[in-house]
Amino acid sequence: RRVGVLISGSGTNLQALIDATQDRTQHIGAEIVLVISNKPDVEGLRRAQKAGIKTKVIKHVDFPNRETFDQAMDAELEAAGVEIICLAGFMRILSEPFVKKWRGAIINVHPALLPSFKGAHAHKDALAAGVRVTGCTVHFVEVDIDSGAIIEQEVVPVLHNDTVEILQERVKVAEHRAFPRALRRLATGEIRLNENGILEWNH
Ligand code: GRF
Repeated sequence: RRVGVLISGSGTNLQALIDATQDRTQHIGAEIVLVISNKPDVEGLRRAQKAGIKTKVIKHVDFPNRETFDQAMDAELEAAGVEIICLAGFMRILSEPFVKKWRGAIINVHPALLPSFKGAHAHKDALAAGVRVTGCTVHFVEVDIDSGAIIEQEVVPVLHNDTVEILQERVKVAEHRAFPRALRRLATGEIRLNENGILEWNH
């Protein structure tokens, strides 16, 4: 399956997806054909270029609203023949028409064990709550943010002297395993999202 990855930053999750899809022994059943970033000059773009993957910068600030920004991304994804979209540290909320169009074919990685700690400050919120474990979640994207059906999770311990930065690094190691696993399940047809938003297993 042809995959498009949306990023906004360092792209370590993108790198994990590149490594997994280019490793034929993993049988991911997917090839990354396009990487779109809403920010220019980010490390993730360099990672894609190094891997020989087409990149496109589409700056959200160049558009009057979310819908027109999303339409520009949609046009590039369609032109590249993309069938599955991975959000890998993409820090923009997607509009309802875009999410509805791609429903069942967009997945996101979130740095907490959903449904706990939704939103953009998951590590700060986990530390403030004093939880002893957190982790990561790969899930289908729905209009409601961080709420779609869960595909993969991994648990990560929280240590007593953790900072946001230290915890983030530990959780990322788990994300880099969970995201390629989730992509494989979707790309090979092992799972799908049904009409009611429930995960269905194909065996
Ligand atoms: C990850 O922790 C992801 O869960 C969050 O943003 C971070 C992106 O990191 N949404 P990277 O760009 O993949 O390194």
